[in-house]
Amino acid sequence: MKKEGDPITWITAYTYPMAKSAETAGIDMILVGDSGGMVELGYKSTNPVTMDEMIILSKAARKGAPNTFIVGDMPQGSYEVSDEIAVQNALRFIKESECDAVKLEGGERMVSRIRAITEAGILVVGHLGLTPQSSTSFGGYRVQCKTKESFESTVKDAIAIENAGACMLLLEAIPEQPANQISMQIQIPSLGIGAGGKIDGQLIIMHDLLGFYLDFRPWFAKCYIPQVIEKYIKEIQEVDDIKKFGRDTKMDGLNNIVILGIKGYIDEVKTGKFPDENYSYQIKEGEIDALKKSKFWI
Ligand code: KIV
Repeated sequence: MKKEGDPITWITAYTYPMAKSAETAGIDMILVGDSGGMVELGYKSTNPVTMDEMIILSKAARKGAPNTFIVGDMPQGSYEVSDEIAVQNALRFIKESECDAVKLEGGERMVSRIRAITEAGILVVGHLGLTPQSSTSFGGYRVQCKTKESFESTVKDAIAIENAGACMLLLEAIPEQPANQISMQIQIPSLGIGAGGKIDGQLIIMHDLLGFYLDFRPWFAKCYIPQVIEKYIKEIQEVDDIKKFGRDTKMDGLNNIVILGIKGYIDEVKTGKFPDENYSYQIKEGEIDALKKSKFWI
């Protein structure tokens, strides 16, 4: 898809019905993120999430989406301590929940883990930029790569994890131009969440797309429900027998709204409408001038 310039669509799902809706809508990939700990289990951050919880969420998602490429998120504490523990937990993830790949956060410091898991025959997705599990160590949820130093260390991280065997890279909360530059330094697909529209694909949190999590919604996340409701009302008005519409098609409920919302996201990513400048971090002229002086800027 990267070679063909076909933007890859990726969404989180942590339950059977949500994963089923995503697969029905035609999504390319699902992430069972540790964000599920917040949006489904009610934790205040992703840090308390355990391997056992991730396995339960991932098993449910796999049942709902048997034919979709699913990435399982390694929770904090499941891979940092040693290569051996990381491989054990990655194997457990794949065996018990049947996901297709695992994701872990971090760059050069994770090279040995990524290599070890890859050598065990498991696909690894890297995650750079804003990495929520270690966000307290860099001052909370902040946009990354706005300085030359931060940009250059992220480029080095991206190259290091590609060389270690990662099959894909997720970039989170990085302005569009540096995200694009990082993507140009590597061959594996780069997908973004809050990283602008110039890379190979997009990830969105299901609950942000649906407006289903009120505690926090990042500024770059788009809720697709208002435009779906507008379309849905028109559809209903065009049906001659409203009772028949519900009974015969089962298209009268929330499931239909969710599928239409995900389809709206897929359509906008595939046609390059999402994310536009309203859903991408901007970078000031002075900041971009400093980045352009980097040896990594093409
Ligand atoms: O857990 C998750 O959903 C993630 C995204 C926030 C990138 O890792």
